[in-house]
Amino acid sequence: MIFPSITEVVLRDGQQSLIASRMRTNDMVPILSKMDLVGYSSLEAWGGATYDCCLRFLNEDPWERLKTLKKYLKQTKIQMLLRGKNLVGYKKYHDSVVELFIKTSAKEGVAIFRIFDALNDIDNIESSITFARKQDTDAQGTISYTTSPIHNLNYWLRLAKNIEDIGASSLAIKDMAGLLRPKTAYTLIKKLKKNLNIPIHLHTHSTTGLADATNFKAFEAGVDNIDTSISSFSNLYAHTATESMIAMMYDNRSSPFNNELLTEISKYFENIRKNYSKYEGSMKGIDVKMLTNQVPGGMLSILEKQLVDLKKQHKLMDLIKEIPRIRKDVGYIPLVTPTSQIVGAQALSNIIDGERYKNLNKEFIDLIRGGYGKIPGVVDLDLQRKVEDYQLHEIDHFDVDILKKDFISFCEENNLKKIKNSDTDLLNFILFPEQAKDFYLQQRKPSFNDIIELQEGFGFYLSD
Ligand code: CO
Repeated sequence: MIFPSITEVVLRDGQQSLIASRMRTNDMVPILSKMDLVGYSSLEAWGGATYDCCLRFLNEDPWERLKTLKKYLKQTKIQMLLRGKNLVGYKKYHDSVVELFIKTSAKEGVAIFRIFDALNDIDNIESSITFARKQDTDAQGTISYTTSPIHNLNYWLRLAKNIEDIGASSLAIKDMAGLLRPKTAYTLIKKLKKNLNIPIHLHTHSTTGLADATNFKAFEAGVDNIDTSISSFSNLYAHTATESMIAMMYDNRSSPFNNELLTEISKYFENIRKNYSKYEGSMKGIDVKMLTNQVPGGMLSILEKQLVDLKKQHKLMDLIKEIPRIRKDVGYIPLVTPTSQIVGAQALSNIIDGERYKNLNKEFIDLIRGGYGKIPGVVDLDLQRKVEDYQLHEIDHFDVDILKKDFISFCEENNLKKIKNSDTDLLNFILFPEQAKDFYLQQRKPSFNDIIELQEGFGFYLSD
């Protein structure tokens, strides 16, 4: 019997799914050395939302977090989730930016890049895979899983084979909305194992109540690696609990994982979670509605809030029904960042206007025009005609040298000598210009309130 290795996701997706990515670095540090000894194949610890939240909400430099993780994790690999050409942002970047980002992340500690694209467009992940391989890291290509009349077994096999052919060193099935059913997972993984030579990883969510069974069937099918989250940060919007997965797979046999250590880690995070209770979602158990309407939980809660703000909460059911209709109209795209936001915003317009596609959002037009990549299915003809006259916005942005000039003038104008020559600071500036400017200006001239914030956020670094 072959047992899959385990990726622990509490530091990235676990806390992203349950407490909106608000966990601070100094709440991670005390437990890292213990996590390092468990025997996980990797710790997923970095990604788009964690990067964004560090700068936007936590007043932390995401790169300092990465460096800190690397310092304490002596043997366990650090894994990150990368949105292909979108990196950790919401639009495409020039390949020179992609290369600098991957090179710098690898240098600061990322050993596995899980690279995905919301549309499953191979062109959007190829350069990242090439750059990650160049850095001698694990370049993991990804299937963004969804269900639709066009997403059948052959579709996934073809895509997986393409991902192997462009040089991915492993393949992940990323089921962000918990749509993958146990028997489907079994068949899919059996086929992938038979047709591909690279290791297969599975990532699913507990939202619809299928994850434990799906992970178990994947184990039976011979999957190479499963993603889990420590029990005190598991289930609901998150993942199968690490300890439960181990218990299921090893039954009465002894496992290579240290149970006492796992209990200690879970206890630690149980206490930490209490500090973030205001970021917890409203879900109490599971949400089977998602299996039919395909709206991911995170997306639904945001749309619900927007309707309340507009005093249109009675339109919620209409909105939920509108999302799969739009999905059909735009060729059954998977819903994951950034397509989930784009489709959600258009659905809201359609419902508020009381007429479908009366107003078209800029990003929605770009999506249909192929600005985000190739659409997997066929776009509705009327909709295609509607966008013909619009100009495609320039999404593929400037190269790194041009962007660097802006950064240097910003540093010079604001007397930020120390950060001028740093690639990590440059990348913060390129990827999140507004947030990065605020962040660096605060560092230069902290007001009284900022000092309190800084001490809270940077307590660990200041004392280190
Ligand atoms: Co996930």
